[in-house]
Amino acid sequence: MDTQAVIGILNRGLSIEYAAVIQLLQDAALVQGPHRELHASFFRERSEASWKHAHKVGQWIVLLNGLPTVEPAPIKQSTDLTEMLRQGLELEREAHKTYLEALPLVMDDAALRLFVEEMVQDERLDVEKFELLLGQKTVTVAVKEVMPKPARRP
Ligand SMILES: [Fe+2]
Repeated sequence: MDTQAVIGILNRGLSIEYAAVIQLLQDAALVQGPHRELHASFFRERSEASWKHAHKVGQWIVLLNGLPTVEPAPIKQSTDLTEMLRQGLELEREAHKTYLEALPLVMDDAALRLFVEEMVQDERLDVEKFELLLGQKTVTVAVKEVMPKPARRP
């Protein structure tokens, strides 16, 4: 395994997590409007999730004898809710892409592979949360009413 390459990718992931911690907390502080409380808790919760990710990624970097970065990736800010959500989505996609890059490098280390897979899964689900809030899903309902079939008797 190319440990230095893995540390490099994990450190990129860590800087994205740090950026997300700050950016999403800033969103929670700035968001306005009649649904402010709802959106503020969403952003705060997402910030906390990134904080937990940062903690785990940092631990793994040290486990690999690497030094975790203390520098966040660029932080974006806005006072517009839709823009905040778009910026959040961008960060989650970037994190997902970054951990995916680490995956082929860690295949021979079961524990590290499981960790990276978990990060890939978490970020994919986080992307989904932002896509849903931005109305980006294209699920169609073809049948408006579904009649349950009567239970069959044995
Ligand atoms: Fe994350």
